[in-house]
Amino acid sequence: MFIKMKHTKFLYFLILFFEAFSKVAVAQDKGPSTIREHLSIDNGWRFALGHAYDPAKDFYNGTGAFSFFAKTGYGDGAASPQFDDRGWRKINLPHDWAVEQPFSPKGSSSHGSKAIGRNFPEASIGWYRKTLVIPGTDLGKHISIAFDGVFRNSIVWVNGHYLGTEPSGYNSFQYDISEYLNYGGDNVIAVRVDATMEEGWFYEGAGIYRHVWLNKTDQLHVAANGTFVTTLVKNNTADVSAMATVINDDKKERHFNITQTVIDANGKVLAMSKAQGFTLKPFVTQDVKNILAINNPKLWSLETPYLHKLLTTIEENGAVVDSYETTFGIRTIRFDANAGFFLNGKHVEIKGTNNHQDHAGVGTAMPDALQEFRIRTLKGMGCNAYRCAHNPPTPELLDACDRLGMLVIDENRLMGVSSTELNDLKRMILRDRNHPSIISWSIGNEEWAIEGAITGARIASTMQAFAKSVDSSRYITAAISGGIGSGISTAIDLLGYNYVATKNTDEQHQKYPNQFSWGTEEGSTVTSRGIYDDDMSKHQLAAYDRKQSDFFYTLEQGWKHYAVRPYLAGMFVWAGFDYRGEPVPFDWPSVESYFGMLDACGFPKDDYYYLKSWWTDQTVVHLLPHWNWHGKEGKEIRVCAYSNCDEVELFLNKKSLGKKAMEPNGHLEWQVKYEPGTLEAIGYKKGLKTGYDVVKTTLAPAQIKLQANQSVINADGKDIAVITVRATDKNNLAVPTADDEIGFSISGPGKIIGVGNGNQTSLEPDQYLERIEMVNIGSLKEKFVENLNVTTEVAAGYDDSGWQNAFKDTRDDAFGQKVKALVYRASFTMPTDVTFTTATFFSKNIGQTESIYINGKEIAHQIKDGNERYEFKLDASLLHPGSNTIAIVAIPLLKPNIWAGVNTNPGLIQLVYPALPYKRKLFNGYAQVIVQSTDEPGTIVLKATSKDLKEHTIEITAANK
Ligand code: GAL
Repeated sequence: MFIKMKHTKFLYFLILFFEAFSKVAVAQDKGPSTIREHLSIDNGWRFALGHAYDPAKDFYNGTGAFSFFAKTGYGDGAASPQFDDRGWRKINLPHDWAVEQPFSPKGSSSHGSKAIGRNFPEASIGWYRKTLVIPGTDLGKHISIAFDGVFRNSIVWVNGHYLGTEPSGYNSFQYDISEYLNYGGDNVIAVRVDATMEEGWFYEGAGIYRHVWLNKTDQLHVAANGTFVTTLVKNNTADVSAMATVINDDKKERHFNITQTVIDANGKVLAMSKAQGFTLKPFVTQDVKNILAINNPKLWSLETPYLHKLLTTIEENGAVVDSYETTFGIRTIRFDANAGFFLNGKHVEIKGTNNHQDHAGVGTAMPDALQEFRIRTLKGMGCNAYRCAHNPPTPELLDACDRLGMLVIDENRLMGVSSTELNDLKRMILRDRNHPSIISWSIGNEEWAIEGAITGARIASTMQAFAKSVDSSRYITAAISGGIGSGISTAIDLLGYNYVATKNTDEQHQKYPNQFSWGTEEGSTVTSRGIYDDDMSKHQLAAYDRKQSDFFYTLEQGWKHYAVRPYLAGMFVWAGFDYRGEPVPFDWPSVESYFGMLDACGFPKDDYYYLKSWWTDQTVVHLLPHWNWHGKEGKEIRVCAYSNCDEVELFLNKKSLGKKAMEPNGHLEWQVKYEPGTLEAIGYKKGLKTGYDVVKTTLAPAQIKLQANQSVINADGKDIAVITVRATDKNNLAVPTADDEIGFSISGPGKIIGVGNGNQTSLEPDQYLERIEMVNIGSLKEKFVENLNVTTEVAAGYDDSGWQNAFKDTRDDAFGQKVKALVYRASFTMPTDVTFTTATFFSKNIGQTESIYINGKEIAHQIKDGNERYEFKLDASLLHPGSNTIAIVAIPLLKPNIWAGVNTNPGLIQLVYPALPYKRKLFNGYAQVIVQSTDEPGTIVLKATSKDLKEHTIEITAANK
């Protein structure tokens, strides 16, 4: 075994060696190195809010006489490479600026009432800029910038060149930037993001909330998303059909051979195939397809999600010019109209959840590790399928589903058959088609205007046929809320029922016996975690299984409907996790939905255990509610047990309250007169004690308890630890009703990136960030003087009311002859909040030589207009709230030619206000802190303190894993 391993690894190294060798050879033959690079460019961006309609507050973008739509390379304002962004905030991606905003009743309730959107033009435009160094040796390569997703309506420029607009916040897109780059120097990417309009009816975040990549390849290369691997398994072999789309972006004809290699998880080569003698003319693509046979394949399954890799190698004249890796899984999927879904020939009941990309503390800007955390959490409940409601997801979500074994419905955003809409559908399928987790493409969700109508049937059947033309290996579904028996439900292959309480699925099955079907949404329960008495005034709903309204089933009713009907492949609960927005049945100040099996942090609600008992093989006994009912002594309390045992016996303070038999997919209930103490449940299977749960009356909270989901994280600036915060009483029992406010401090190579507690009505901030204010200098006035030695005109209180507005006269040579020097004066308004820790004047020269005075004090003496830009730290004592003055004595700048301009902007003052310390209240005993590594190894120390509780500190190791 050992020898075999060594041998196979050796083979893999041989391939790598061959590639490395070819790379050198190519570099020598053709100048640039040509092996593909896929580089993360998430770090080192600058960010500032712009404005939806005020050009001055939107950094004057789109105001030039010739702007970027008029002349190529004319990106103006913040789109210009010359724009000065030194005052902007430094950030890393992914980034969601919506989650940073406060809550407001004027915000969109469906989106979580953050102060963003139509009513907040000053908070709805975000600008991102990044400077990239491109080495001179890259000249000749094909270089593109790829965005996994930007919410929304993004415009991208490189070096002032307009690249394009992507309206949707859910599409991945890329631009070829090879010709626009400054090789061997700096390059500026600018992105304007407009989140004014919404796409969905749920929280969607704002900004570059997914990764950004720089891809460098040879001009002859595998096209973006250009491989497609499907597998056919028969007996003990798998035929891997490997298709590669090769594109020649060169201006000359290219000749190549292609090698496709299947590699297992240990790097062992399982099969290899070569195809030779291809010629591609410029800008032509070619699909190359080979079938590679694999004996005794390791299949991808939910229990063992085994992944293979396909290596696609393009060679020209014996040298490798591209090498492209595709992860895939070998598995079969099949739906049966009478028997449901089969994975690798085995029946699998779909136990799914619907989810939006949104998590407490961080919103849509989820670190990859959080995707993994959420998928693992769902799997813990027995969930085996994930519906990406209602848009194509972040690619790393799909990677996590592939790695952990979770089936996926990948859903298109908007139904329609215009070229735009079909192209969006196509882009989703091309991007995601190699993920073994995806079993179905959903063409749409609850399109009320068309779902029951003939138009709906037509649109659905066209979209369905179109989707199959791109990928015929998945099943096409559409989720329908009404209109069964007409419209889309008559045309779709795999019918998705949203809520069966109002539908007769048996009748539909009889009428369309060949149609596959499943429940795309079910179990519309609305609950608050840890609450067991409704309090409508506090917007709190008891966490017993309950339906939203009579148009819906409870979770149990819903599951029972699906569990007994083999023709239904299973169901997706609405929803897995609570998410911001849709606080049905409430409105402001509720800001999160109540539908989750888990709250927005991922803390289980009781419904989670109902599903766990019927969705897993583990023995489950779960009791609700908690047993802290001080003041309700002698009153009846509704006690429920979720369990998959045959019988459950309940005990109060060791006294049996009776044993009850469990019906399949059911639950048990008792009315129990409250007395403090211990409530216990024993579960019996075949008469034997198998399961147990206990809830105890606790004392008041006495100490804080922190627990991390992992104690060692990667020191890569990306990995996270998810910390659970609880309060225990003096006997170490977690207090289920605790609501103490907990403060957090952190030291070492880690930072807190968000806090939450799952309380749907909490208006506490998600993040505590450093705040940046930019103070603009007002309109300049000017006066001509003899030389730079001026003293009276620069004094703080000098009366300049008789001066003319600056820059009225053209700065030509004649002006230079006439005017030797000038004094410019302006005022600027400092805010009343003087708690800033730094004030920096980022100056831009308005003179060939200039001296700068603030409130009469010289801060710069005769600085020269050079290529560098100056910055001055200002002492706080120099500034005061309200009106301040700046005076600049300068030798005038002159235009180098008649069409050029001169700089008229003296710069701005940046004020940095420190972040307030992180804090969060517990909600029914829980809060969550997300800690992210910086990129250094070491020990991260997180300390939690609270007024009346004993503090707690934990350590997390950041290591180069
Ligand atoms: C469905 C919809 C979901 C969500 C849910 C809330 O109609 O598809 O996105 O809004 O209702 O009940």
